[in-house]
Amino acid sequence: MAADRTRILSGIQPTADSFHLGNYLGAVRQWVPLQDGHDTFYCVVDLHAITMGHEPDVLRARTRTAAAQLLAAGLDPARCSLFVQSHVPQHAELAWVLSCITGFGEASRMTQFKDKAAKQANPSVGLFTYPILQAADILLYQASAVPVGEDQRQHLELTRDLAQRFNARFGETFVVPEPYIVKETAKIVDLADPVAKMSKSADSQAGVVDILEDPASIRKKIKRAVTDTGTEIRFDPENKPGVSNLLTIAATLSGRSVAELEAAYDGKGYGALKTEVAEIVVEATAPLRERTQEWLDNPDRLDKVLAAGSARAREVAGRTLADVYDAVGFLLPRP
Ligand code: TRP
Repeated sequence: MAADRTRILSGIQPTADSFHLGNYLGAVRQWVPLQDGHDTFYCVVDLHAITMGHEPDVLRARTRTAAAQLLAAGLDPARCSLFVQSHVPQHAELAWVLSCITGFGEASRMTQFKDKAAKQANPSVGLFTYPILQAADILLYQASAVPVGEDQRQHLELTRDLAQRFNARFGETFVVPEPYIVKETAKIVDLADPVAKMSKSADSQAGVVDILEDPASIRKKIKRAVTDTGTEIRFDPENKPGVSNLLTIAATLSGRSVAELEAAYDGKGYGALKTEVAEIVVEATAPLRERTQEWLDNPDRLDKVLAAGSARAREVAGRTLADVYDAVGFLLPRP
């Protein structure tokens, strides 16, 4: 892996039994082609996954399932470093240093914190500092681009601010990263409530399609997708969010353009569109399901991939953290 290739880092939380179409199309799918020509680090962020309360055994299982799905989706251990965040202690260590240059008011403005905290009886300090840990994930690897969904834009902005602030205060240490957000799929919406983004924390899972979901259930959810009272199949996210969402999903998974699909379904009605989209989703997710299961049936092989990825991650992260500790004036311990 040549050192001169641009660094890419992204992360996903192991907080569900499966990724859903929003995670997959909005972020994970972009990770695969970036493996060519870039030095890619992809991280299952288990430290982030304990910010809202969790079950230990469930977390452990979901961490493996998340990694298995990423491999099934096309991450190639020979071309990327796939690792688990808690295997690399530097994430928590850098997060502490960054938290000391983050303003309390600045952190208080994070809208994702406000949204998540509003749904909790007693939100944790960890949930509050979550974006700072995310900044550490990115800055440790000197990543210049971060492929994420639209909802992560504010966290990326904070990361850039912290990198610039640290560099100005303690000397050039961090690369200032750019978000990498693919417009077309940046926001997949809930099938049952097409004004809300598809989210695992939605009140009902009726509009959330998991990539590991069985075909019958996928078909049922797509057939019940909320559209509008019209009949016209037209891409118009403003006035026809439901129909537009179906077109986006179908276009991305089939590799056809939205215009082509509009033309193909012209005059056929929503029922036909839904049947067709359901088949496209079933066909696209079947191999993901199969390959994920293959990795899960072989946990030894999976854990070895993660061990190799985290060894490489610790090497890079260790170098950055040493620079940071030196820059902020920590006394080096005697060897
Ligand atoms: N907050 C991100 C999300 O919920 C996950 C994440 C954690 C992440 N650390 C990251 C994404 C670093 C990109 C880079 O989607």
